[in-house]
Amino acid sequence: MNEFLSLENISVYFGGHIAVNEVSLNIEPGTITGLIGPNGAGKTTLFNVISGLISPSSGRVMFAEKDITSLAPHKRARIGIGRTFQKLELFNSLSVVDNIRVSLEISNQWNNSRTAILGSNMNSEIERILDMTGLDSVRNSMASEIPTGQARLVELSRALVLSPSLLLLDEPASGQNDEETESFGLLLRKLCDSGISIFLVEHDMSLVMNTCDLVNVLDFGSVIAKGSPAEIQEHELVIEAYLGVKKR
Ligand SMILES: Nc1ncnc2c1ncn2[C@@H]1O[C@H](COP(=O)(O)OP(=O)(O)O)[C@@H](O)[C@H]1O
Ligand SMILES: [Mg+2]
Repeated sequence: MNEFLSLENISVYFGGHIAVNEVSLNIEPGTITGLIGPNGAGKTTLFNVISGLISPSSGRVMFAEKDITSLAPHKRARIGIGRTFQKLELFNSLSVVDNIRVSLEISNQWNNSRTAILGSNMNSEIERILDMTGLDSVRNSMASEIPTGQARLVELSRALVLSPSLLLLDEPASGQNDEETESFGLLLRKLCDSGISIFLVEHDMSLVMNTCDLVNVLDFGSVIAKGSPAEIQEHELVIEAYLGVKKR
């Protein structure tokens, strides 16, 4: 039993509306796991439960064998859970490199041995991230001036400075063109190989099916299928609920 993240019977009610319904799933270390489903299925709500932005109405969140259901969001970030948001949250009036630097400075202020990269090491960490994400060529551009595809990479870079062991990515490829999405998939695999497990919410089926080791399908708040990309694409309920209308 070495599930690294384990959701146990998670439900979330908003008033009388059930957004997440008795969801149980695991993320194994060293994998890229997908979460797909129609709009309103509860994907972002589930990410908010994992990162601590909302408390589940019932159920438990286990991470590295600890119950973190009641842990504050910033403490979850410190123990290695990073995330990006569906809606881009960059400092628009700062350059690409300064967006990354600010995140690194904030994480250093936490004075946490996991992430403390002080002095000249800080610059080399920024260079490493710029190099890995391919953002070096736009390092001095204002965040507001770069195309959305690259802005998504800045958002990813800002999550990477926290040295996460688990990265939650909420529709990270939206706004990227096909070529950008393809290289984004390769980047995710590289990050995974470097020891970062990834939980990916994404509408781009080519990215999900080419990149994920396992895929979970959510519909009306419930997991209706789990399996390899090949299994999911053949799954009758999934084709009905989702791929049937979205397949391209
Ligand atoms: N803060 C909230 N208050 C009330 N309802 C919400 C809130 N957040 C999400 N919902 C509802 O919960 C359901 C799941 O939303 P969401 O998790 O954003 O879905 P997805 O990310 O899969 O598109 C939707 O019906 C949405 O309207
Ligand atoms: Mg969402």
